[in-house]
Amino acid sequence: MSGVILNNVKKRYGAVEVIKGVDIEIGEGEFCVFVGPSGCGKSTLLRMIAGLEEISSGDVQIGGRRVNDLDPKDRGAAMVFQTYALYPHMDVARNMGFGLSMNGWPRDEVDRRVNEAARILQLEPYLDRKPRQLSGGQRQRVAIGRAIVRDPEVFLFDEPLSNLDAELRVATRLEIAKLHGTLENSTMIYVTHDQVEAMTLADKIVVLRDGRVEQVGAPMDLYETPDNLFVAGFIGSPKMNFMALDNGRLPDGTAPAVPGAAGAATLGVRSDALRPVESGGDVAGEITVVEQLGDAVFAHFRTGWGQEMVARFEPGTRLRAGESVRFALAGRTHLFDAEGRALRAAAERLTA
Ligand SMILES: Nc1ncnc2c1ncn2[C@@H]1O[C@H](COP(=O)(O)OP(=O)(O)O)[C@@H](O)[C@H]1O
Ligand SMILES: [Mg+2]
Repeated sequence: MSGVILNNVKKRYGAVEVIKGVDIEIGEGEFCVFVGPSGCGKSTLLRMIAGLEEISSGDVQIGGRRVNDLDPKDRGAAMVFQTYALYPHMDVARNMGFGLSMNGWPRDEVDRRVNEAARILQLEPYLDRKPRQLSGGQRQRVAIGRAIVRDPEVFLFDEPLSNLDAELRVATRLEIAKLHGTLENSTMIYVTHDQVEAMTLADKIVVLRDGRVEQVGAPMDLYETPDNLFVAGFIGSPKMNFMALDNGRLPDGTAPAVPGAAGAATLGVRSDALRPVESGGDVAGEITVVEQLGDAVFAHFRTGWGQEMVARFEPGTRLRAGESVRFALAGRTHLFDAEGRALRAAAERLTA
């Protein structure tokens, strides 16, 4: 049993509360991603689980044990940092095994574990190299190897890809996904500000904002049924389009068919839920920028009331800036109340 449970966890620095009562349950073997904007408390939360940061109040359990007062090395968790901080004068093998050797592990057991980690991470050809003779991606793999040799119950990753260039980031992301497949029973907690990393890696995503949990769920649950405006705007690329509704009417007076839109509300539509139409429709505007991605075309447009929005077109569609476009809402729509909470329940009742 190596799940992780956070129970009303708080962190204060003096009078400032940066983690404001967080409850999370992570199952054994689960890949859980903490995602949220910079400064929302992701690293602080991870460091409290690792034991690198004192817990002001609440409990952290790993594998059913309360670990609040345990030393980092006794928690069964190993952390991989954004800056890999390898020892420059040690070769790869020694960088990976050093921690174990320092803790008095016998030489042959250290070697066995280092060789096993090198095999898993495909670092075998590089065991004799110094860090400066490695690429950024290989160095990050060594840092991951340093965690693997400790055979932890829980892996903690703090933005491990953010020092890599775009191509390596994608490649290393895939390696981490494979690693989770290889190390079947190990629980992983992975921190990132990148919602694409969160969507692609996670079994479960925890969206954080300003020291609080906004929503927890599987990637597609968050994408399809965000609980609030923040999650709706954070998850998904391009971002969800938002339009103000006043008693069911858009600012230009159009009344799209949206059930339950009384009073002040916000209507959310993703770029692929806008269907181009010749006339009529729900939303009209003028194209500002066209992005040709090969497998899709994204047309950014400005509505008559000045709202910037984006619509997805079929690959190959010819569009120009300045062109007028009209769309019908054709797909899932999202409705949020004046406080930004999803009005899902109300909408579902009405359509049921
Ligand atoms: N040692 C510290 N003293 C005071 N405030 C801190 C300290 N460390 C972090 N913070 C604050 O806690 C908040 C969360 O920081 P952090 O966990 O690093 O965010 P994230 O990893 O999500 O970018 C930030 O507002 C940050 O300024
Ligand atoms: Mg951080």
